[in-house]
Amino acid sequence: TIPVGAFFGVVFTITYQDVRADNTGTLRFANEVAIPPLLEPRIDGEGGKHFDLRMQTGHSELLSGKRTETWGVNGAYLGPTIRANTGDHVTMHVTNDLPEASSLHWHGMRLPASMDGGPHQEVAPKQTWTPEWTVKQPAASLWYHPHPHGKTAKHVYQGVSGMFLIDDPESRNLGLPGDYGVDDIPLVIQDKKFAPDGSLDFSRAGGLGDAVGAGGTGILGDTILVNGTHDPRLSVTSELTRLRVLNGSTARIYNIGFDDNRAFQVIASDSGLLPAPESRERILLSPGERAEIVVRLAPGEAPVLRSFPGGLDAGFPTDRFAGGDDTFDLIQLRAGDDLGQDAVVPATLARGEQLQAPPEARVRRFELGGRSSINGQSMDMSRIDEVVAAGATEIWEIVGGGGPHNFHIHDVAFRILDIDGEPPAAWQAGRKDTVYLPPGKTVRVVVDFGTDVDPDVPYMYHCHLLYHEDSGMMGQFVIVRADQVDSTSRTVNTGG
Ligand code: C2O
Ligand code: CU
Repeated sequence: TIPVGAFFGVVFTITYQDVRADNTGTLRFANEVAIPPLLEPRIDGEGGKHFDLRMQTGHSELLSGKRTETWGVNGAYLGPTIRANTGDHVTMHVTNDLPEASSLHWHGMRLPASMDGGPHQEVAPKQTWTPEWTVKQPAASLWYHPHPHGKTAKHVYQGVSGMFLIDDPESRNLGLPGDYGVDDIPLVIQDKKFAPDGSLDFSRAGGLGDAVGAGGTGILGDTILVNGTHDPRLSVTSELTRLRVLNGSTARIYNIGFDDNRAFQVIASDSGLLPAPESRERILLSPGERAEIVVRLAPGEAPVLRSFPGGLDAGFPTDRFAGGDDTFDLIQLRAGDDLGQDAVVPATLARGEQLQAPPEARVRRFELGGRSSINGQSMDMSRIDEVVAAGATEIWEIVGGGGPHNFHIHDVAFRILDIDGEPPAAWQAGRKDTVYLPPGKTVRVVVDFGTDVDPDVPYMYHCHLLYHEDSGMMGQFVIVRADQVDSTSRTVNTGG
């Protein structure tokens, strides 16, 4: 059997090298990375903050000398960074100037279901939608993106996304790098496929997934954009730089570290600061996940933030279907000769209690199948899949499929209990809202549900590989009063 194994090994290697994407050695880091502008709110008489967001079409020079039709928010590509404090009352004025219905979902936000911006809150062209809520969660790097039924991948891929940062008094007083755009930098990482004329290629063909016969992950591009900038560098002016990294891609999973393997401090995951920083050389981010890292540079250094093959270093199996064998330089950090040094990374970050599962916690199980079902069913806008008591703490047991998936739950923060029985690394054990599901593995999370009761409007849970979400790998839950859990209707009126 050895010759046969070797034979297949050779064949696989050849096929694999033909399709492997690797941009290392081809970039010059010629462009200073764009920093999404902070969106100035209008303040009303009660101190409420009003943000104006217009989803629009436009064209961008994403590749030098080429014109690309793109979509964005208040601009041609991506959107501004929204920033608010815990306790703020915020009102979003979302106008849809796109040629088709869309929505804006506040990914990671705790808020009433009718304000969530999911598929039940689509905004027709030329209409304005004005959700409002009070921010009730600790500091975190959240984001916003469209969520129209069956079209999320297209709308996100065309460029409609932005960061939504929450601050609280604790986070502001830690001494972390916090000068937005100077030593506190959002990095929205996306892969794109461009046609020769510069237009965005929406076909799923040609990606690694297709080449190995899966075709199942959605668009995998071979060109990286960071904040919409191709071939980017970041000029660094302080010893410590905080990077708020968002995997804003439709399907690609990144195994992120520096080309010189320097360690960095992970200080926050999706939904907030960690209890303590963890020093890492690699972190794995699947679509929708965020991590905040702080990296130290000496004068004149220029390390490259890179996505490495595999993910083995991060404790995950190699994942060729989602491009896990590809290598990408993401952005170069270029330190000046004279670096400021006033920030610190304290040994203690978030002081809040860690989310614990009570002994009687309800356990629900979700099995992801193919690319379009959860527990054997595809998304149905008129079906409520789960009814949850307000304020409940539950254990959700999520069973991965044959290929890579991940799992995002609206409205909640959760904590990973274990990944196939193994406890997560410290950087993965904080507050999260999206978790990677390695092929065939089971991930258990303890979930803290909100208290905004609405038996008629569901929240979503789904795979955040957007082609899977659009294909039906999504379900709906409602939050009801505890005494109504058993009597709540399993259908929802989608009429309007
Ligand atoms: Cu980031 Cu249901 O979405
Ligand atoms: Cu999936």
